[in-house]
Amino acid sequence: MELMQAIQTRRSIRQYQDNATVTADQVKELIAAALQAPTWKNSQTGRYYVILDPAKMKEIVTECLPEFNANNCTNAKALIVTAFETKRSGFTREGVAENELGDEWGAYDLGLQNENLILRARDMSLDTLIMGIRDGEKLREKLSIPESQRVVSVISVGVRASDPEMPKRKAVDDVAKFF
Ligand SMILES: Cc1cc2nc3c(=O)[nH]c(=O)nc-3n(C[C@H](O)[C@H](O)[C@H](O)COP(=O)(O)O)c2cc1C
Repeated sequence: MELMQAIQTRRSIRQYQDNATVTADQVKELIAAALQAPTWKNSQTGRYYVILDPAKMKEIVTECLPEFNANNCTNAKALIVTAFETKRSGFTREGVAENELGDEWGAYDLGLQNENLILRARDMSLDTLIMGIRDGEKLREKLSIPESQRVVSVISVGVRASDPEMPKRKAVDDVAKFF
């Protein structure tokens, strides 16, 4: 699929086809694409926790997501919980923040990786939903995510059940200033 086609046809999908499958090898391809993204000093601090087992998925969906996001996972075949190692991206070797953003650079890097991941999914005819409204501490506990990592999002993966409309976008002139 052409890059612009993937960018334009990607949508947040909140209902997936029940009869579709998502394999571990496919998820590995998504994460491999994520790892191609640029990161601060190539620090690659993004971490991925993949849930494919239906019983574990049910547990995570019901216990770590609010009801509306649990409903948004209808027929999802995989969940990818994203996190990043703190105090590396944006920091010197000695652990001193390079500037005022500190660990926000880790979130920035993870976001770049996650965009690669969701566009690669689209490229493979898979669909995704990034969920930022989730219980980070419950996810940490259930997936044994170490304290050195910040838990960020839950990304559901499946095959779209229908084609949603694109939510309206701002115009370039509304967001960019040229000098
Ligand atoms: C960081 C982030 C967090 C989000 N969290 C949620 C969420 O918790 N639940 C949800 O239904 N959608 C969530 N979304 C999806 C956005 O609502 C969606 O991307 C936006 O409305 C634009 O629609 P589109 O992705 O189809 O272009 C999130 C998206 C991002 C990037």
